[in-house]
Formats: sequence, structure tokens, C-alpha cells
Amino acid sequence: MRLLFAISASFFLVSFCNASVLKPRATTAVIPPNSFSSSTLFSEYWNYNYPWGDSHNGAAIMDSSHVTLNTGSNSVTLTSVYTTGLGTVTSGGSTIQLHYKSGTIYAKPTFTVAAGGGYDISASFIAPTIKGTWPAFWLTAVSGWPPEIDIAEWKGDGLISFNTFNTSTVVKADDVAYPNPSSTHTVKAEVRAESDGSTVKVNFYLDGVLQTTQFGADYIGKAMYLIVDFQMEGSSGSPGPTGNTTYTISDVSAISYNP
Ligand SMILES: *[C@@H]1O[C@H](CO)[C@@H](O)[C@H](O)[C@H]1NC(C)=O
Ligand SMILES: *[C@@H]1O[C@H](CO)[C@@H](O)[C@H](O)[C@H]1NC(C)=O
Repeated sequence: MRLLFAISASFFLVSFCNASVLKPRATTAVIPPNSFSSSTLFSEYWNYNYPWGDSHNGAAIMDSSHVTLNTGSNSVTLTSVYTTGLGTVTSGGSTIQLHYKSGTIYAKPTFTVAAGGGYDISASFIAPTIKGTWPAFWLTAVSGWPPEIDIAEWKGDGLISFNTFNTSTVVKADDVAYPNPSSTHTVKAEVRAESDGSTVKVNFYLDGVLQTTQFGADYIGKAMYLIVDFQMEGSSGSPGPTGNTTYTISDVSAISYNP
């Protein structure tokens, strides 16, 4: 018994050492893949509206009653409801006539790419692409601007858009075919620090296929919010629909590779 124990203990040590030598860099789930599977997890990881309020560059004003948590399918549905008599908001320096009540959520954790690090951020969507609907899934600066990485944005033209503001005046925007918008599609952004210590590189995937690679200058060390919003009109054109439309997001996952 004793001898056997000693032998197996030393085997154990050897294999443990090998495992620690070969172990890849540790990753951390910043948002676990089941954050929409219960109201407790939802409120641990998500807030309602934008970090700065209830409007942003479009004709929808946001509130929590237009956000539906579907715990059984680990998803959230944002519903835009055409509404008259809403008045105006001032956003991005212009006065905008509101035409919709809709929903927005943003992640409680923020995202700061560290030197040598980065994130994988992914989710699945049923997103409308008709004129005047402007759903999005995006990262934007906590303070100052940019950074902004639009992991997915649908601007009412039947396409999906992937964009990164390299600087405040230089943006790379790639619009890609988006077949069958009423079915579920998966989007992933691999956000990684480059070795120059300041640039961030982003690989954008649609349904597992790399679509484009973009860069953000001076993004390392800058905190970003992650937002899921169902904005209307604005970049998606107007007039938008005069009925209800929905945008569903499921299985959000954010993994950190920061050292
Ligand atoms: C991004 O901006 C940096 C700094 O201005 C510049 O050196 C670089 O060429 C730009 N890259 C792209 C892809 O636009
Ligand atoms: C639109 O949504 C609102 C609020 O959720 C609901 O009261 C209304 O019945 C919906 N209308 C239609 C036509 O589905």
C-alpha cells in the first residue's frame, strides 16, 4: 500500500509539473455564456439603457419595459414600438424627433485591453435589417472617444456592418451580406493588443467565418462599455416602420485574455 502510494504520488507530481508548463494563458469569463438564463444573473451582469441615459443618435427613447428577458432560451428581446407625441431629444449635438419607445442594455463590467491581452466577445442574434431599424452590439469609450468597435450593426439596408474608429476621423466600415435575417446568426470579435503597446487589432466573424480585420490606434489601456441597443432611424434611414419590431440577442459571452 505504502509503496504503491509513493509511486502514484510521484506520477502525480510529474504530470502536474508537465501540465503547468504546457498550460495556456489563463482566460477569465468577464460575461459568462448564461447571463440571460436567470434574472439574478441578468442583474449581476447587465444594466438598462445607455451608460449616459436613454437616447443616442436616433428616434428611439429607451426604457426597461421594452426589454424582455427570456430565461428559457438564454436571450433578451428588445421591442421597438412606434409611438406618437414623444417630442424631441438632443443627442450628438442635434435635436432629434422621437418616434419610438425601445430597449437598450449594457454590460456592468467594462473592457480594457491590456498590453499582451484582449477579449473574445460573441453572441447570437435575430436582427431586423429593414429601413429605419438600427440594432447594434458595440463597444464604446467609457471616457473620451474613440475607442469604438461596432462588433455588429445593422443599418436598415439588408447588410451587417463591422466598424472600428481607428481615430476620431478615420473609420474602417465593412458592410457584408446578411442572408435570412429572420434566422439566428452568430457574431464574434477577437480583440487583441498589438505588440506596439498601443494598437488594438479586431477580427470580426459572422457565423464562424472571418469577415474583416480592423485596427484601433491608442486603444490599449482605455476602458470600453459593451452595449446592446435597438435604436431606430438615425444611421438606418427614415421613415422607419409604423409598427412593432424586435431584436433578439442570445448566448452573449465575453472572455478576457488580459495577463
Ligand atoms: C490607424 O491610425 C494610426 C495612427 O494614426 C496609423 O498609424 C495607422 O496607419 C492607422 N491604421 C489604419 C488601418 O487606418
Ligand atoms: C406593440 O407592443 C406594445 C408594447 O409591448 C403592445 O402593447 C402592443 O400590443 C404591440 N402591438 C402589436 C400590433 O403587436
